Amino acid sequence: MTNETSLTGRIAVVTGAASGFGEATAVRLAADGAKVALLARRKARLDAVVATITAAGGTALPIAVDIRDAAAVTTAASQVANELGAADLVVNNAGVMLGHAVDDGRTDEWQQMIDTNIAGVLNVLHAFTRPLLDAAAGGHSADLVNVSSVGAHTFFPDYAVYSATKAFVTALSGSLRTEFGPRGVRVTNIEPGLGETELGQGLDGTHGEQLTQMWDAIGPLQARDIADLVAYVASRPRHVNLRQVIVLPTAQA
Ligand SMILES: NC(=O)c1ccc[n+]([C@@H]2O[C@H](COP(=O)([O-])OP(=O)(O)OC[C@H]3O[C@@H](n4cnc5c(N)ncnc54)[C@H](OP(=O)(O)O)[C@@H]3O)[C@@H](O)[C@H]2O)c1
Repeated sequence: MTNETSLTGRIAVVTGAASGFGEATAVRLAADGAKVALLARRKARLDAVVATITAAGGTALPIAVDIRDAAAVTTAASQVANELGAADLVVNNAGVMLGHAVDDGRTDEWQQMIDTNIAGVLNVLHAFTRPLLDAAAGGHSADLVNVSSVGAHTFFPDYAVYSATKAFVTALSGSLRTEFGPRGVRVTNIEPGLGETELGQGLDGTHGEQLTQMWDAIGPLQARDIADLVAYVASRPRHVNLRQVIVLPTAQA
């Protein structure tokens, strides 16, 4: 006998589901019985993931949306409600990581990270707060899973603004628990370490190379490892909230 609840009947939303952690999480939640809305900008990539889910017998809805656009995220939330039902499991995962020394003055990159990792995360929170609270008020499991980073606590040169945006997500998650927890919505903050995804694709040659060297040296997390964790936290009994999970490759200090 296991101490878990089924994900069958849950309505999940995963942002950043076109690749990496989000893609693997969407596939896993659907395999575990949830109906899943996949949000990201690249429609063709979303369609490919949805085809994989559907071929395996799951239910999935692709929604091409830029989370930096608050109105578009609100429209996406309405589409989820109309086509799948009221969301009760929201994985606020989409993010970007860009790296340069502060004195390179790449304010364009700073803005992109602020707009995506901070404002975008808030847009998703805003759009899905009501269905999460309603699900909990109706006696159902309700989960908000935010994907931060161990970078919120562990600092590297050239990633100051990225780390700061992730510290925002960690602080937001902790604060949200004080508002949502008493109303039955679990808030989980996941802080992954080094993971092998497309996250480094926006880096320049030098930083991209450093990242792949770290992968070779450490043996990074795979996207399915994070998917596994999200499925685990969402399938605990309603009164159990894994508040914060730091998940690292075993060899990462
Ligand atoms: N990989 C790691 O080492 C690591 C470690 C700690 C934390 N994280 C965090 O994990 C999360 C997922 O990243 P990942 O590693 O899986 O990288 P990834 O493969 O690059 O995935 C990022 C996803 O976010 C989406 N996205 C980016 N900007 C968006 C926007 N404006 N609107 C909508 N979707 C957007 C991307 O799709 P589109 O481009 O199609 O929009 C993509 O599907 C991020 O928040 C990242 O900070 C990653």
